[in-house]
Amino acid sequence: MLEVNKIHLGDCYELIKQIPDNSIDLILTVPPYDFHCGTINKTGIFKNRYVAPGKEIVNMNINSGYDMSILKEFIRVLKNINIFLWCNKEQIKDYLNYFSNYDVSFEILTWHKTNPTPLTKNTFLPDTEYCLYFREKGKVNLNDGYDLKSKYYITSTNKADKDNYLHPTIKPLEIIKKQILHTTQENDIVLDCFCGSGTTCLAAQETNRQFIGIEVDPKYHKIAVNRLNGILANGQMSIFTKF
Ligand SMILES: C[S@@+](CC[C@H](N)C(=O)[O-])C[C@H]1O[C@@H](n2cnc3c(N)ncnc32)[C@H](O)[C@@H]1O
Repeated sequence: MLEVNKIHLGDCYELIKQIPDNSIDLILTVPPYDFHCGTINKTGIFKNRYVAPGKEIVNMNINSGYDMSILKEFIRVLKNINIFLWCNKEQIKDYLNYFSNYDVSFEILTWHKTNPTPLTKNTFLPDTEYCLYFREKGKVNLNDGYDLKSKYYITSTNKADKDNYLHPTIKPLEIIKKQILHTTQENDIVLDCFCGSGTTCLAAQETNRQFIGIEVDPKYHKIAVNRLNGILANGQMSIFTKF
């Protein structure tokens, strides 16, 4: 078993094999975005798609989509299907298609940004991000709490987090905490295989859940590990740290 309450450096396609069957309570992850269009091939790999905008993400090499075969591993390690998958619009149909083979219910959750970049021509504003939630019917119960149940979140873009942890697709900590609180119990294990700057792991830590993080890029791995210890990417202590 991969050690819990640790962010592991490495390729999740390899490391996930060390996680036993039926051992994880929740997967909450933001896999690489797929800034492409076209059709998925037979193996489920997003390939040969036209690369569209998202300069910052393209420059960081996290736009190339990913091999969806890992979803089978996600289902293997989960006790019951209980998964949040943040994604872009293009990926929604692929995920819905994939999970239509399982007995799950799903929600399409949205994060609305109040101050999106107005740099768009002949398109809508980039003011919405999507997160799909799948849970196994009759197996996963949701916790009560009016605040937790909303299907949408509204905040300004989290520029301060981006500046502090240098990750272009960092998600707001408060939203991730709500998602964890809604779908798990204390001490449950939350897995994030594409953990970037460590938002899911920090949210789990702050809500008294256990976590396993995996990140392949040594730069983001170091940022995420430091973040759990209250250290910013520039090496200074965070003013919000509890330590
Ligand atoms: C969209 S970002 C996640 C951002 C994160 N949720 C946050 O709030 O900072 C996806 C991350 O997955 C990492 N990644 C891509 N392929 C990976 C792999 N095979 N194994 C582990 N991490 C991977 C990338 O380096 C990137 O940091």
